[in-house]
Amino acid sequence: MFYGNEALEELGIFDGINEIVATTEKDGRLNAAPLGLIKDGDSLYVRLFSGTHTYENILSSGWFVANVTHDAWLIAETALEDLTAENFMRCDGVPVLKGAEAWGLFKCEAFMMDIIIARVELVRGEIIRKDFRAFNRGASLVVEAAVAATRYMALRTDNYYDELIKMQRIINRCGGPREREAMERLMDRVDSYSHI
Ligand SMILES: Cc1cc2nc3c(=O)[nH]c(=O)nc-3n(C[C@H](O)[C@H](O)[C@H](O)COP(=O)(O)O)c2cc1C
Repeated sequence: MFYGNEALEELGIFDGINEIVATTEKDGRLNAAPLGLIKDGDSLYVRLFSGTHTYENILSSGWFVANVTHDAWLIAETALEDLTAENFMRCDGVPVLKGAEAWGLFKCEAFMMDIIIARVELVRGEIIRKDFRAFNRGASLVVEAAVAATRYMALRTDNYYDELIKMQRIINRCGGPREREAMERLMDRVDSYSHI
């Protein structure tokens, strides 16, 4: 087990925006959604946009678990869908995704009270498995596409849809089956939403 912000790199968290999946809990209900954990030297914070379960849960509980993974499928899936209970396990009492490679429990102190920004601090965390692989453009683009999809859903701007179509072409070329499936599932949701 690792403790405190000195252990961030051990858990795979480096300077820049770390795209993690945050697991949170409220009234016994578990939630998972992508969240950017921003590290700039000693400063560590998240930007929380209102209107999400993650925002509400973190505000009411003061913590979240960062699930570190480079499985782009998991990031895309949690961006637009709720995961079923079978996808979670308990590690040292906190909810962790079975697909995580490492997890960290962060306490979270809102320092702008419209809670756009919250300072966060690692309480404890552990490595579940080390899983290295070559950089894959398709996987990065799935994460980018998940961002575009959430923005498209929120803003309904055609630009995002056009971007998604371009990204899908590259994902089909550079990604493996998991990345292609993640993108297909994103597009299915975006398309069914477009028809509402
Ligand atoms: C890669 C990625 C990074 C994201 N980063 C953030 C973030 O830093 N803050 C935030 O509030 N939402 C972020 N989002 C959007 C939320 O994950 C999205 O609104 C999600 O649907 C919220 O789900 P929830 O209602 O289950 O919490 C991100 C989405 C993606 C795909």
